Amino acid sequence: MRLTVLSTLLFAGTALAAGSVQAAGELNLICSADVVICEQMRGDFEKAHDIKVNMVRLSSGETYAKIRAEARNPKTDIWWAGTGDPHVQAASENLTLEYKSPMLDQLQDWARKQAESTGFKTVGVYAGALGWGYNTEIFKTKGYKEPRCWADLLAPELKGEIQIANPNSSGTAYTALASLVQIMGEDQAIDYLKKLNANVSQYTKSGSAPVKAAARGETALGIVFMHDAVAQTAEGFPVKSVAPCEGTGYEIGSMSIIKGARNLDNAKIWYDWALRPEVQSRMKDAKSFQLPSNKSAEVPKEAPKFEDIKLIDYDFKTYGDPAKRKALLERWDREVGAVAN
Ligand code: G6P
Repeated sequence: MRLTVLSTLLFAGTALAAGSVQAAGELNLICSADVVICEQMRGDFEKAHDIKVNMVRLSSGETYAKIRAEARNPKTDIWWAGTGDPHVQAASENLTLEYKSPMLDQLQDWARKQAESTGFKTVGVYAGALGWGYNTEIFKTKGYKEPRCWADLLAPELKGEIQIANPNSSGTAYTALASLVQIMGEDQAIDYLKKLNANVSQYTKSGSAPVKAAARGETALGIVFMHDAVAQTAEGFPVKSVAPCEGTGYEIGSMSIIKGARNLDNAKIWYDWALRPEVQSRMKDAKSFQLPSNKSAEVPKEAPKFEDIKLIDYDFKTYGDPAKRKALLERWDREVGAVAN
C-alpha cells in the first residue's frame, strides 16, 4: 500500500516536473514596445500557455542598464521588443543567451541577419523607420511651415514646440542620435542637436511619448518612429507623419533571452511563439504598425512603406557597439543634455 502511494506520488512528481519543462510556472518579461501591445502580447501568451507572465514595460536603454546591473543575479528571463542597438550591445557583453529558434527560417533576411551577426543572442521581431509626427491643427493655427526635412526642425518659430526622448533611456532617441551621426557626420550631428535644443521643450523618458503629446496638443511635433505617429492618426488625432527628406535611420526591434534566466524553458516558449506569423499579425490590433519579421505575417496597411522612405544603410554593428554607445551618449550628455532648457 505504502509503496503504491509512494510510486503514485513519485509518478505525479515526475509528471509535474515534465509539465513544468513544457509549459507551466512563470516568465519574467521586460517589454520595450508600447504598453498596449505589451499588454496584448502578455494576454495572448497567457491564454495559449499555462505560464504566468510577470511583465514590466521599460524603455530600451533602461532595460539594457537594468540587465547589465543584474548580470550576476538576473531577475529577467526574456526581453521582447525595443530598438535593436541595445540588444546588440547586450549580446556583445554576453548578457544574453545564444538560442537558435526553429522559427528562424521563417524570418525576413534583416531579422535573421540580426541573429547571425550576434551569434544568435538576439533576433529581429519587427522593423520601423524614424521620422516624426506633427499636429496639423497647431501648425495650421500658428502658421508654421510644413516640416519635411531635419533642417526644417531648426526654424526659430518652432521654439519650444518639439519633443524627443532622452537617448540614455530611449532606444528611439538613440536611433535618432546614431542616424543623424550617420547622415551628417558626428560633429555636425552634435551641432545640429545643440541647435535643435532651442526648440525642444522636453526630453521624455520613453520614445513614443513625444508624439502622444503632439496628438493631444501639448506640443506641436514629436520626433519618433513613423509607425508611432501613424498610431496616433489611427486613434483619430490630427497627426501627420513625416519621412525626413535628407534620409533617416530605422530600428530592427529585437528579442533576447537573458543569460542566467531562471525560467529558461518558458523563455524559449515565448521566443518561438513571438516569432509566429499569427502572433505578429495580431500586433496591428494594438495599433502597433511596425513591419513584422515573419515573412508570412500580415503587413499592416497602415505600416509606413520602406520603399517610400529615404533610408540610410544603418550601421548596426558600429552603433550597436557598447563603446560607441558610451562615447556618443557621453557627448550628448555633455554638449546637449547638460544645456537642455
Ligand atoms: C515604441 C515603438 C517601438 C520601439 C520602442 C522603443 O514603442 O513602437 O517600435 O521599439 O518605441 O522604445 P523606447 O522607449 O526605448 O524608445
